[in-house]
Amino acid sequence: MSEKSNLKIAVIGGDGTGPEVTAEALKVLAAVAKQDDFSFELKDFDFGGERYLRTGETLPAGAVDELRTFDAILLGAVGHPDVPPGVLEKGLLLELRFQLDQYINLRPVKLFPGVETPLAGKKPEDIDFVVVRENTEDMYCGIGGFLKKHTPDEVATQTAVYTRKGCERCIRWAFDFTRRRNNPKGKRLTLVAKTNVLTFGHDLWDRTFRDVAKEYSDVEADYNHVDACCMWMVKNPEYYDVIVTTNMFGDIITDLAGILQGGMGVAAGGNINPDAGGVSMFEPMGGSAPKYTGKNVINPIAAINALSMLLVQSGHEASGQRVLAALQKVTGEKMKSQAAGKMGYSTSQVGDLVVAALNDA
Ligand code: IPM
Ligand code: MN
Repeated sequence: MSEKSNLKIAVIGGDGTGPEVTAEALKVLAAVAKQDDFSFELKDFDFGGERYLRTGETLPAGAVDELRTFDAILLGAVGHPDVPPGVLEKGLLLELRFQLDQYINLRPVKLFPGVETPLAGKKPEDIDFVVVRENTEDMYCGIGGFLKKHTPDEVATQTAVYTRKGCERCIRWAFDFTRRRNNPKGKRLTLVAKTNVLTFGHDLWDRTFRDVAKEYSDVEADYNHVDACCMWMVKNPEYYDVIVTTNMFGDIITDLAGILQGGMGVAAGGNINPDAGGVSMFEPMGGSAPKYTGKNVINPIAAINALSMLLVQSGHEASGQRVLAALQKVTGEKMKSQAAGKMGYSTSQVGDLVVAALNDA
């Protein structure tokens, strides 16, 4: 891609090993930008546990508006051992997803060459599908409450909210994505839900899915209950092409899928606002891994994978694909393992290897 406009990226390294893996992704960005002759600009934001402990703020006033001025966000990790659970997740990660209306959570599930999967006998060609998770509704909306809290009669509610608009925009995007992905084995979009029990919310999903499917006669519209999907994904992952699902189920099945593709060292996701002017955020799935922080042993492949997704989504598709090819050379030909401390290389060496693979290509 030549002399395209400057790519403006907000970098939130975040907690624990987040900044280390992000640094490797940015090293790869510098290399690919030079090769492909595009310019980029970075700005660091110090959001995360340390800042919260220092200031009591997760996202300072004006932060979201500033983030809106970027082309994309690269996030390292959030999660700090001294911050109670939920504070950073809700105050930072979910807040950004909601405020930036990143209604697609895109999670490619691809077994890279050389990467070990817990599934016996499955090869890279067998584990290659994509989960499109709705990212703004469901039980994540924060509606609910307590009655008679801390008494034996306590009642708690946690409401799952589904809207026609919310599920339709996600389903439509998933059909478009399945069409674009153009799987040579056949274009199949599987709705994963629980229509046999969630007879209101998932009925809405199911009806919307069927309505939208009429516009995509080239895509097979398929349905799995979520529990069956979990069995099937382990037994026959090759069945899946693209899955579209609700926020809560998507959260759960993408951890299952993540381990099938080799785990937290490799899996990445994109929180995407596909609308014109929307700002998307890309992240490795690894978490902040406090015990490995500062040791130069954490695996940066997932962060580099997130960078590849960021480039594809930001109009640098060819560059993103080349980064993906380069990281697969490194997993396939160099690394001994994807586990922290067992890679046969340090964090920064893995970044260097990806840069070298890019330059060799
Ligand atoms: C994820 C994470 C988040 C989620 C948490 C950290 C709020 O598990 O991105 O999958 O549940 O969405
Ligand atoms: Mn999750």
